[in-house]
Amino acid sequence: MANKLTIEQLIKRSIQQLDLAHSYSGETAKLDVEILLAHVLGVNIPYFYTWPEKELSTDDIEQFLVLLNQRMEGKPIAYILGYQAFWAFDLEVSDSTLIPRADTEILVETGLALIDAIEAPKVLDLGTGTGAVALALAYERKKSYVEAVDLVEDAVALAKRNNEKLGLNVQIQQSNWFASIQTNDFNLIVANPPYIDPQDHHLDQGDLRFEPRTALISDKNGYADIELIADQARQYLKSGGWLAFEHGFEQGNQARHILAKYGYQSIETRKDYGGNDRVTLGAYFK
Ligand SMILES: C[S@@+](CC[C@H](N)C(=O)[O-])C[C@H]1O[C@@H](n2cnc3c(N)ncnc32)[C@H](O)[C@@H]1O
Repeated sequence: MANKLTIEQLIKRSIQQLDLAHSYSGETAKLDVEILLAHVLGVNIPYFYTWPEKELSTDDIEQFLVLLNQRMEGKPIAYILGYQAFWAFDLEVSDSTLIPRADTEILVETGLALIDAIEAPKVLDLGTGTGAVALALAYERKKSYVEAVDLVEDAVALAKRNNEKLGLNVQIQQSNWFASIQTNDFNLIVANPPYIDPQDHHLDQGDLRFEPRTALISDKNGYADIELIADQARQYLKSGGWLAFEHGFEQGNQARHILAKYGYQSIETRKDYGGNDRVTLGAYFK
């Protein structure tokens, strides 16, 4: 690419390059290019439409091309930038865990509605990753006590950094699901566990190629962790406490079946913004 380029020229050429790149499987080349260039220049996207003729410095072009090459190799935008918007804030992300998805906000909304009926809610987030769900709940309901765990040490450290940056007080620790949990009086346990069938061909496509398998796959056709959590959560919930978890859009039936099998009541499934089954919840009475 030539050294002297205007914003408009660079964007146009980069979109063509990205569209032709073998490993790029996105459908948003224009947006991806604009996000990366905006990041390098420290501007918002509308800036490009105000100043299309502005000539870019060699330094800026070089920095941008490093990022563009990563995107051409398929690396997710969030991993390239190091952050992802979720709920009302930006979260630092890393390849130790999942990039938070907009669909997971359904789990946050479900959790908020459940804890609003409780005086001093005590909440546990299992498989917290970046901390997304726990931090959104703590951010919205300052009176809540929120704990969060993850199996992966680097994800725990990442969630702790996000907790600190947001000035929140979520108690975060490493744990294999409930292994390190000391108390058994939670009003709400939330989880977005791994739930993809290890044989699912989507694992070889798009962003999933770059995310760790510890965050994605679960044995027994994707249900092993959901089942384990549904079983063990009963010991850690207060009587009448709720378990709410995210699952795949085709897993609603089986998720309800699992909760019923372990004696949960008031079982229902909430849909995501695309109208697909996404979160199933139930209350457990001792
Ligand atoms: C689908 S990701 C969800 C991350 C985050 N809660 C979110 O919604 O963006 C699943 C998370 O569960 C964690 N995990 C997997 N197995 C686990 C286990 N046995 N105990 C605790 N966490 C586990 C993974 O490291 C990963 O961070």
